[in-house]
Amino acid sequence: MFNDRSSPLALLQTRRSGKPRDLIAPGPDDAQLRQILEVAIRTPDHGKLAPWRFVVVPLEKRAAFADLLETAYRAEKPDAGRLEIEAMHQFAHQAPTLVVALSAPVTGSKIPVWEQILSVGAAIMNLLNATHALGFAGGWLTGWPTYNQDVRAAFGAEGESIAGFVFIGTPGKPQEERPRPDYDAVISVWDR
Ligand SMILES: Cc1cc2nc3c(=O)[nH]c(=O)nc-3n(C[C@H](O)[C@H](O)[C@H](O)COP(=O)(O)O)c2cc1C
Repeated sequence: MFNDRSSPLALLQTRRSGKPRDLIAPGPDDAQLRQILEVAIRTPDHGKLAPWRFVVVPLEKRAAFADLLETAYRAEKPDAGRLEIEAMHQFAHQAPTLVVALSAPVTGSKIPVWEQILSVGAAIMNLLNATHALGFAGGWLTGWPTYNQDVRAAFGAEGESIAGFVFIGTPGKPQEERPRPDYDAVISVWDR
């Protein structure tokens, strides 16, 4: 069962990502999106460095985002075919809400960058849980746009990295559970 809101634990036990291509309106309104992002930034962060940033790409900017992806893709792959370009446009236009999460590590801090990167993952997880708590679904994608420097530069400063594109909306199809790790394969009691 998904979206069981009978208790805070049930909420966490029933959260599932939505497939971004299957997420439809409604997405969160402005006040709900603010709540989601406020939860995202309420996250463990060694040294209080806030080593992350979130950039909202509103619906009216999705065409510009698609153009950015197409231009960057063609620059990297001049022989790109029609289907590859269409995939970039599909990526940019899916789901009603899009938040780009950036890792923004503070250099020169005594806190290792590794720990700062862990914090952005935690922030995104909080974002997904808050999304779920409000009755929406979120999907965290990376893929080609994450690692292209032109796309990165359009969202983040030098030294920042895209940690993910988080698409948010309402599942347009019934969600299905996915296989989960075997508990005993990944949980053990230290005994040395
Ligand atoms: C850092 C990161 C990047 C991901 N990138 C992709 C991606 O590009 N494409 C994809 O299909 N899934 C990607 N996923 C996996 C999806 O988010 C997937 O739907 C999710 O792990 C499902 O888990 P859940 O059912 O527990 O929510 C990524 C996951 C993480 C943590």
